[in-house]
Parts: sequence; structure tokens; C-alpha cells
Amino acid sequence: MKIKSFLKDVGGASRVTKARKAKFDNASGKNEYTDPINALARELHPGKMKVRITKVEEVSPTAKKFTFEAVEGKLPPFQAGNYVSFSFQIGETKTTRAYSICSAPYQARTGEHPFFEVTIRNGRPGQGFVSTYCYENWKEGDIVIADLPYGHFYIEPLRDSKYIVGLAGGSGITPFYAMAQEIAHGTLDADLTILYGSVSKKDIILVKQLTAVSKECKRVKFINVISGEGEKLEKGDEKGFISRELIAKYSLDGNPSNGKTTFFVCGPLPMYNFVAKELAALNVPARRIRMETFGAPKDISKAEGYPVELIDKVFKMTVVRGVQEDVIDARADEPILVALERHGIATQSHCRSGECGYCRCKVLEGTFFVPSVGDGRRAADKRFNYVHACSTYPTSDIKVRIPILDD
Ligand SMILES: Cc1cc2nc3c(=O)[nH]c(=O)nc-3n(C[C@H](O)[C@H](O)[C@H](O)COP(=O)(O)OP(=O)(O)OC[C@H]3O[C@@H](n4cnc5c(N)ncnc54)[C@H](O)[C@@H]3O)c2cc1C
Ligand code: FES
Repeated sequence: MKIKSFLKDVGGASRVTKARKAKFDNASGKNEYTDPINALARELHPGKMKVRITKVEEVSPTAKKFTFEAVEGKLPPFQAGNYVSFSFQIGETKTTRAYSICSAPYQARTGEHPFFEVTIRNGRPGQGFVSTYCYENWKEGDIVIADLPYGHFYIEPLRDSKYIVGLAGGSGITPFYAMAQEIAHGTLDADLTILYGSVSKKDIILVKQLTAVSKECKRVKFINVISGEGEKLEKGDEKGFISRELIAKYSLDGNPSNGKTTFFVCGPLPMYNFVAKELAALNVPARRIRMETFGAPKDISKAEGYPVELIDKVFKMTVVRGVQEDVIDARADEPILVALERHGIATQSHCRSGECGYCRCKVLEGTFFVPSVGDGRRAADKRFNYVHACSTYPTSDIKVRIPILDD
């Protein structure tokens, strides 16, 4: 029996050899092979690509919506709630900024002119290094460098309940506009109630657009929560902050802790901290909370555990790239990523809030502070002194090793 199957195997091998030989003889001399897995990966994540601004529209007194098309090829598919990372060279500084895609995914896949959109809020006077730059300079016809899609802030039917309450503040409304449009189009199966906190009615971004979607689609509800004194409320508006009472009121069955509602939270850090406490007080299960913060803390001295006595210090940072070493200044109140960028040193970044890990580097010497919100390091990274440069602040002279990049 064994001998028979051995002979069969040997015979089979010789047949394969003939077939292979025939293939070799008939094969083209050119290298025409493309790996289908790599080709698909490139389609889904093309990396940095050129996109053209096709439209600029004011969507509040302080925010503009920008529409983009691909300069070459197709836009990659994305989920409602993903973000795009734009690259900038502003003076000496090479930097990136993340902006949530506020258009619906179907708009980038279909139609004669597939597109995606972002809405950027202008920075306050004297602040807003990149936002002010985009707000004041970006115009129709400009070509910019975008890298998309990134992020985990999207509705995943296998993980999240169908009933979603979005808790938004400031420019954190943008991913919810993408979700709302995708639901209205019928390509996302969810019910979305958005509670949008603003101080004043004039701060509300995309108000016309969100009101229109909620009128068109019964599955989307849009509620303004206004905290400023003397503000005139309209029918459906709520007064105050996004408090536990409001969260409970708009949860399914009025019960936020029964696991039937998933809460998506997006906005500036103070709002994020406030809402996190309210959700904890309501005993919302952790698996029903999805959060996205919009960037690093504005004032690191307010972070719990930060050594405030160091705030005005400027340290020396030795930057190691392969065999090259450069010594630059690093301010105690800025992440080391910003110090690198100020000195024109190319490094990778996307979220700039400690979450994605693209800016990971190793601290070889010196001490540093990482705020608890923004500490996305793995346990092994902590053990071996790897940090995320976007959420690491020097507290002494410091030496870091960063990856070598071409651009
Ligand atoms: C996932 C995600 C999605 C987001 N989506 C949106 C959105 O849809 N809409 C929106 O408006 N915002 C969004 N944001 C926020 C956005 O990425 C920016 O943080 C925001 O626009 C403010 O950026 P800014 O540069 O204007 O201000 P900041 O980030 O506050 O810029 C100031 C920073 O630049 C540094 N800086 C100042 N001058 C210089 C210089 N000369 N050289 C180098 N560094 C300097 C400062 O030290 C400081 O660190 C999102 C953020 C994230 C993480
Ligand atoms: S850029 Fe995402 S963790 Fe630093």
C-alpha cells in the first residue's frame, strides 16, 4: 500500500514537472506579475496622494468646508467617521494635521466626480498654526497632499448597537455629518441622535447641512445644546451642557446603561473629560463608548501630574537618525514632535493625539511626561522607553532615536 502511494507521488511529481516546464517554455520574458494582495492593499491605502480643492464653502462664521477630488486615480474607500491626514510645509516647519472626513463614503465611490470633504475651524487669533493657514490660504484649484483613511471612530455593526447617540462639541461635529449622510443615503444601517454642544448659536458648524439631513431622514436627529446666557432657543434645542440628564433623555428607552445605545464622543479635550464623567456616572458599559479627541491638550500645565514648575524651560534634545546626531531646542510645554517639526526634521505623524502610533520613537536618555489622555503606548513600549512623540513632553535634556525618512 505504502509502495503504491509512493509510486503515485513520484509519478505525480514528474507530471507536475512537465506541466511546469511547459509553462516556463510558454511564459513571457517580461516581468508581468502583480501581487493581487499588494495591489488591493495599495488601493485601500494608497499612502500620500495629491488631491485638488474643487470647492470652498463657509459653513459658519468661523469654519469652511473644503471639497477635494483625486488628481490621479481613485479615492480610497473609507468609513463614515474616518479622518484624513494632510501634510504641510509652512516656512521651515514640516507638519501634518488630522481632519475628519465630513462627507459620506458613498460620495467618494460613486457619481461622475467622486469627492471627499473636510470642514476646518479657523484658529483663534494668535493660535491655530495650521487651521488659520488652511482657512486663509486654501482656495479652489490648489493641490495638497493627503493621506487617508485613518481612525477607528466609525459605526461597526458587529460591535456597536444600532442606536447611536453622538455627543459632539466644536469641530467634533464633522464625523457625525458624514455618518448622518451615509445613514440618509441608506448605506449605513443605524439610528443617530446628535447632541451638539455650543456656547452660542453663532458657533454652530454645518447647522444648515445637519438640519437638512435630519429633515430628510427620520433616522437622524440633530439637537443643539446651547450653554451661553441670553441665547434664543428654537424648537427642539436644549439649554445647558451635555449633562447626564440629557444623555439619559436621548438614550434608547431613556436608559443609557442597558447596553442598547452606543455613545460616540468627539470634540475638544475639556468637553471630552466632562462627558466621560457623565457617562461613568450613568454606568454606561465601556464597550458602548467610542471616543475621539481632536489633538493634544492646548495647555499641558493643566494635565494631571505635569510638573508645572518646568513649564517655561527649554531643554536640549539630541536627535539620533542612524549615525547622524543633531541637537535642537525642545520646549517643556510642547510635545517633542513639535520640536522636531520646528527644526524641519522629517518624522511621521497622523492623529497627533497619542493614539495611532505613527510618531513612535525611542527615548535613549532623559526624562519626560505623558498625559494620561493621549497615552496610547503599549505595555511593552512603556517598558522599553518607546514613546509617541506627539504626546511626550521633555522634563530634562533628552536624547531620542527616530526613524530615518526621505522626505
Ligand atoms: C482625528 C482628528 C480629527 C480632527 N478633525 C477636525 C475637523 O474635522 N475640523 C477641525 O477644525 N479640526 C479637526 N481636528 C483638529 C485639527 O487636527 C487641528 O488640531 C486643529 O485644526 C488645530 O490645529 P492648529 O495647527 O491650527 O492648532 P494647534 O494644533 O493648536 O497648533 C498649534 C501647535 O502648533 C505649534 N506651532 C505653532 N507655531 C509653530 C511653528 N512655527 N512651527 C511648528 N509648530 C508650531 C504649537 O506649538 C502647537 O503645538 C481633528 C483632530 C484629530 C486628531
Ligand atoms: S501621531 Fe498618532 S500617536 Fe502620534
